Amino acid sequence: MKVFLTGASGVMGRSSIAALHLAGHEVVGLARSAASAEQVAATGAIPHRGDLFDIDALTAGMHGCDAVANLATKVPVGTAALRPGSLKAIDRIRQHGSRVVTDAAQRAGVGRIVQQSLSFMYADHDDEWIDEHSPIDVTHATEPVVVAEHNVKAIEDAGGTAVSLRFGLITGNDRNTAWLFRRAAAGRSIGLGAEHSWMHVIHPDDVGSAVVHALTAPGGVYNVGAEPVERRDYVDMIAMAAGRKGGHFLPGWILRLGGEKLEILTRSQRVSSQLFSDRTGWHPQHPKLTPDWFDELA
Ligand SMILES: NC(=O)c1ccc[n+]([C@@H]2O[C@H](COP(=O)([O-])OP(=O)(O)OC[C@H]3O[C@@H](n4cnc5c(N)ncnc54)[C@H](OP(=O)(O)O)[C@@H]3O)[C@@H](O)[C@H]2O)c1
Repeated sequence: MKVFLTGASGVMGRSSIAALHLAGHEVVGLARSAASAEQVAATGAIPHRGDLFDIDALTAGMHGCDAVANLATKVPVGTAALRPGSLKAIDRIRQHGSRVVTDAAQRAGVGRIVQQSLSFMYADHDDEWIDEHSPIDVTHATEPVVVAEHNVKAIEDAGGTAVSLRFGLITGNDRNTAWLFRRAAAGRSIGLGAEHSWMHVIHPDDVGSAVVHALTAPGGVYNVGAEPVERRDYVDMIAMAAGRKGGHFLPGWILRLGGEKLEILTRSQRVSSQLFSDRTGWHPQHPKLTPDWFDELA
């Protein structure tokens, strides 16, 4: 297949290009700047210059493609997440960008969209398992993710297929984990929420293989990640990889200060990705969080 990627120069894009090439697909990658275009070209993909909100540029790039994977994001890294307006860019990408991408795909006659989504949208389920039917908890922080999933479904009106992948927290050699790693190495707190609550994580390599499998998945939403991990184990594993004896949790008042932005990072989410495996045969190469996920950071 020929696949058009937005977010081609980001962590999800790089992983997807590698996995798509390995599976024999051709990739066209959206690039906003000369630097991003160079980065995309260096991976062997074909760069296509344009912005996510420029429908003509997107349509031109998508012509002749069989599928689109919308992986563009603007996740604030580290304490930048707490600044006022920190989610403005990503909210726009999710709410408005997903619509532009879908319209462009329809104009270009592309029959399949893969939308990156987030399992953070599920309500706190304590120790209970979460599947795709579990209730979500819509706040200002999660609403744009829900809207994006909804927007891409418009492709179904023209007989196309929309697949949304609800990824866990990307954990490995990425900018946010690197920030946590540096904090932990300095002996500072990195844990949010209750120590024995559950987190849904995914290794960056497994994002790309999931995008490949989404090219043949039946339409719908799917959870995609490794085995859930308890927060205490996640925090300790990062801290120990960073050379400390164990990790520390942030006090509750910081969480209150962060409001809805931090609240989504504290939800207990024991998420199962079984449906995606059953429907597509996808299995994570990194099925469980282990210290080697942080090797490149160390
Ligand atoms: N599920 C998750 O946990 C999750 C999901 C996504 C990201 N993250 C985390 O967020 C952090 C930052 O992610 P990142 O390093 O991938 O970088 P990023 O700065 O978030 O960029 C992601 C991609 O989106 C593209 N993009 C952003 N706005 C665009 C626009 N208006 N038009 C076209 N393309 C646009 C960027 O292109 P340019 O090169 O042109 O900027 C880049 O390719 C990482 O730590 C990552 O792990 C986590």
